[in-house]
Parts: sequence; structure tokens; C-alpha cells
Amino acid sequence: MPVRSVYVCQQCGSSSPKWAGQCSSCGAWNTLVETVTPSGAASRRRERAPSSAAAAAVEPIGAVSSAEADRLASGIAELDRVLGGGLVPGSIVLFGGDPGIGKSTLLLQLAARVAAGGASALYITGEESSRQVRGRAERVGAVVDGVSLLATTELETAVDAIAGTRPALAVVDSVQTLASGELGGPAGSVGQVREVAMRLAEVAKAGATCVALVGHVTKEGTVAGPRTLEHLVDAVVYLEGERLGTTRLVRAAKNRFGSTDEVGVLEMRGDGLVEVPDASRFFLESEQPPVAGSAVTIALEGTRPLAVEIQALVAPAGYGSPRRATTGIDANRVLMLIAVLARHAGLNLTGHDVYVNVAGGLRIEEPAADLAVAAALASSLRERAVRSGTVLAGELALSGRLRPASRPERRLAEARRLGFDRLITGPGRDGSAAGARVGADAADGMEQAPDLREALRRALET
Ligand code: TYD
Ligand code: MG
Repeated sequence: MPVRSVYVCQQCGSSSPKWAGQCSSCGAWNTLVETVTPSGAASRRRERAPSSAAAAAVEPIGAVSSAEADRLASGIAELDRVLGGGLVPGSIVLFGGDPGIGKSTLLLQLAARVAAGGASALYITGEESSRQVRGRAERVGAVVDGVSLLATTELETAVDAIAGTRPALAVVDSVQTLASGELGGPAGSVGQVREVAMRLAEVAKAGATCVALVGHVTKEGTVAGPRTLEHLVDAVVYLEGERLGTTRLVRAAKNRFGSTDEVGVLEMRGDGLVEVPDASRFFLESEQPPVAGSAVTIALEGTRPLAVEIQALVAPAGYGSPRRATTGIDANRVLMLIAVLARHAGLNLTGHDVYVNVAGGLRIEEPAADLAVAAALASSLRERAVRSGTVLAGELALSGRLRPASRPERRLAEARRLGFDRLITGPGRDGSAAGARVGADAADGMEQAPDLREALRRALET
């Protein structure tokens, strides 16, 4: 009996017998996925004889080997850091990011590094022609032995090529351009994207190949629709950056083989992405002594402290409502800090245009950056520089109270390494800086301020 299938909308669950770009029931686009009908699945189940192999495969947990397969070092230390030590053979990793951010560049370089280490790499391109990839390879030094190219948009061809040549690394660029001839939907539709990921995961496992799958981020900020792809792969790595800047951050959003805390820092140059070894210094733009409108915070991205300069410019506004513009930091957070400054520090910015910029093209999410943003604004308004040697880290409450940053001692140590000597932060619950070790040297340079007013007084004092 032939297996029957229907197309089920992943958003509203309604089904239709034919594939369409738009769900006729809820109106969502690209959500129909070919699915085997319950009656089809049941008849399949009936045809299957029970097997004794399953029972034989059950084993006591103590008998399961915990030895990890040797990882394939990517050769890009900043990427290995994020992956937790390299690529795991037989795994599939999704590399997501906005179009044009540098995914193809990064993965072509990855292929070249893997080949330089003596393993083979296959780059499958569905997006560009072989000639275009070759052109990019020349720029980034990836025309090397051990790297092969295949241009195809057929999933079956890609899978056969991987199974037939068993490379250590297979790059598939991109999930949105491959399609299986066995499914009805066009390339990039949810059903196709899911099929591509599942079939590639299978072939990865079978041949101990690492598959690096490229995925463009959709308008909603996810790869190919919510949750369609991310749970089908072993790890999800995002390449991020401000479009016009050259800094690129590599961050894991999911990682079956390591933590998701680490961040790698790369810089886009004319010859591809290069690692930024001393990332902390990289984001410190201005020289000491500081100028008015600038404040330094130590952000903790995962376990990695990064010194970051926050720049603010406050200028009398012209006609109409004053401008508020930010780069690298959430604009609403800055609006909130402007309100807190007015209410709790007596600094009124109502009649002023306000610009806030995170130096170096970094994007900061951590609320512990609040205090540095507030200090940069206050410093610009008062035309007085933050005292030399000062870094600030702490979250501001709407009440104007200051919360301590996590792991202040780690941040202070990084600040010291870069030539700063004091960290202004909030008080811990017991009155000490949270997590600070008791002892003169640990606390030396750690200054706790209970609220915004006191923190600003200390930061701007001369
Ligand atoms: P690309 O890797 O094609 O991005 P994606 O695959 O994510 O869409 O990179 C796109 C941009 O990177 C492109 O605008 C040019 C720039 N670029 C460099 O600055 N230097 C380089 O060496 C390369 C290869 C690209
Ligand atoms: Mg690309």
C-alpha cells in the first residue's frame, strides 16, 4: 500500500493535499511541510515485523564508552573556542547569520585550514558558481590541496558526494538553496529545509564527516523559521556584527558538545576573516587619559572579559523632538538610562540630542553595561572626563540603585591587565562586591557605590 502524505502547516496545523507557498487557513508563508498521514504511518507500522536487534542493542549505562571521539581542530582558534575544542566527527553544525556577514568566507577558510591539517574538505555550493567560490578562495588563500568543490542545488547529489568521498569536513552553502527532488516544495521552504538538515545529519553520522551547514537568518531573526532547523542539528553557531563594521563575533546558540557561553572575535579584512588575539584591547578605542563622553566597561561574554569603550555625545537639540541614536546597544535601554539619570542624578537630557556608540562594532546585551553608559552620558553633559584608570560595571534599577556586576574580581583582573586600577560597581547583598574574595589584594581597586548618584560622583571626581 503506497504511503500517503499531506502538507501540514507548521504554524496552525491545518493540512492540505497539495503544497502551496501560503497556508490557505492561517495565511502564513512557507509553512507547509510534507508529512506522512496517520493512516499511512499506521500501515507502515503494520508491515514491519518486530525485530530482536533492538533488545540486543540495550546496554547498561556503565558499559557505555564515555571516551570522546577526537575532535577535528578547525585551525581557527576563535572558532574552536566557541565549538568547545573543535568539530566533532559525525556531527552537523549550523552556521547562521545575516546575508553578507561572512559565512561563506569563514567556512571556505575553515575548509582550507582543515585541509592544511592533512584532512580532506568538500565545499558544496548551491548559492554561487564554482568559479565564484574559486575567486573568493584566491583572496583568502584557500586554493590548496585537499579542498574540493561541488556546485549543485540537488540534495541527493550533495548527499551522494559526501557519502562517496567521505571528507573529514563537508561545507554545505546553503541550506536554503538545496532541495530534494522527492519533495514537492521549492528550495528554502520549511519542508525542504528540514529534509536537507535531516539527510545531511544522517550522512554525517554514517561517514564520521563533520557537516557545516550555512543558513541565512530570516527577518524574524531565526534560521528558516522558528525551531524548524535548530533542533535537527548538533550545534548552532551565529556569526554576528554591525553591518558596516569589520568586527565579527562567533557565538554558539546551542551546543551538544560544549557550552554556549564562549564568544570568538574575528575581523573582516581584504584577505578574509582574521582572528583577533587580544580581543579586549581591540575594543578599547581611545588612549588614556580619557576624554569627556567616554567610559570603559568590562563586559563578560561567557567566561571571557572584554574591555569595551562606550562613547556618548550629548548636544543641545534643535527644533522638534530631540534625537536619540545608538549603535551596538539597545536603544530602549538607553532611553531608560536617560530617564534614570534625570530622576535620580539630576541630569536632565530633555533638551538634548543623545548619541551612544559602542566602540569597535561590538554589540552589548549585558545589563552590567548600564553604569558605563550612564557615566558616558553624564561625562558628556558635564564636559568632564571620567577619572583616568576607571572602569565601570553594574546594572541600574529604575529606582537609581546600582546592582553589582557578576564576577567583579574577574572583571577587575582584566581591567588591571589593561592598565586600569579601579572598578566601580554595585554592592553585593552582604555589602561586599558580589563574588569578591575576602582579602586586601582582591578588594583593592574594587569600589562599591550603592546608587547612580554616588557611582557618578566617584567616576567623575578629580
Ligand atoms: P560572504 O562570506 O559572501 O557572506 P555570506 O556568505 O554570509 O553572505 O562575505 C560577504 C562580504 O564580505 C562581502 O560584502 C565582501 C566581504 N569580504 C571581505 O571584506 N574580505 C574578504 O576577503 C572576503 C572574501 C569578503
Ligand atoms: Mg554566502
